[in-house]
Amino acid sequence: MAFPKTRMRRLRRNTTIRRWVRQTRLTADQLVYPLFVQSKPKGRQAISSLPGQFRYSVDPIAKEAKAVYALGIPAILLFGIPKTKDEAGSEAYDDEGIVQEAVRAIRKAVPDLLVITDVCLCEYTSQGHCGWVDSSSKEIRVDNDRSLELLSRIAVSHAKAGAHIVAPSDMMDGRVAAIREGLDQEGFTDVAILSYAAKFCSSFYGPFREAVRSAPERGDRRTYQMDPANSREALKEMELDLEEGADLLMIKPALPYLDIIALARQRFEAPIVAYQVSGEYAMIKSSAKNKDEERALALETLTAIHRAGADILITYFAKALAPYLYRLRH
Ligand code: PBG
Repeated sequence: MAFPKTRMRRLRRNTTIRRWVRQTRLTADQLVYPLFVQSKPKGRQAISSLPGQFRYSVDPIAKEAKAVYALGIPAILLFGIPKTKDEAGSEAYDDEGIVQEAVRAIRKAVPDLLVITDVCLCEYTSQGHCGWVDSSSKEIRVDNDRSLELLSRIAVSHAKAGAHIVAPSDMMDGRVAAIREGLDQEGFTDVAILSYAAKFCSSFYGPFREAVRSAPERGDRRTYQMDPANSREALKEMELDLEEGADLLMIKPALPYLDIIALARQRFEAPIVAYQVSGEYAMIKSSAKNKDEERALALETLTAIHRAGADILITYFAKALAPYLYRLRH
């Protein structure tokens, strides 16, 4: 039945009917808001590469977390900027480290907010790589197997502080298994692993690296993060992470990788999480003429990411968007 009997515009004629037939709905329930903690200066400091985002010290971050939860956002993803960086990234697994301190403060201030911590070495190592680098060697070689023990120690230390979910973002082989083993050995059997399973070596991370000062001193991340050209390899990464014990799978960045999200949705039963990263945020921020346009762009891109198959969305727009989203009350 073609035109004139069929008229596609009938179901688009007003807001109510569009609302009624809409296939994909964003709710605040699906959102995760990234937060950055540092020990000094006290208070909050604007991040110039991410307009509208801040680095907080511990007390204000607990307050901010409370405000985030009050908007209906169930989860935050926490990143730390350490006082000092060293070869082994030792502040990352120090029980008195900045992330651990912030997790304790946030859990105390907002017990029901889900606290997800980013597990990685790049913010903590002097060389800025996501794994162990032998400094005596002339070339940059990230030592996979030596990194595993450190990553597992970071995850355990986050769990001890009260993290509900740990999110390894380093892309070392075998790290999900190493982390699961470390957590279980210490009795943290209920702490879930959100694996950055298909993390592409992307230029969209630029503003983030400025925010946490984690750009590698030498070399790049191509030997561990994925080649943006590969989709079958992404599926293999996700399959392996599930086998190793990942509870949730992340794809990152989001908008340029909708095909990967759609493939993952078809192939796997685990919740799929997509990270709309710093460069995606900055791009929208700098192109929008005003707040309304910015919100419309955020909503459209996140709806597309959800439509492609992502259940959960990590986005710097979470706070700005939450008040405008559907609210399910049950
Ligand atoms: C740490 C990490 C990065 C991001 C999340 N965790 C940066 C990187 O891998 O260089 C990027 C987040 C963003 O761009 O918003 N490994």
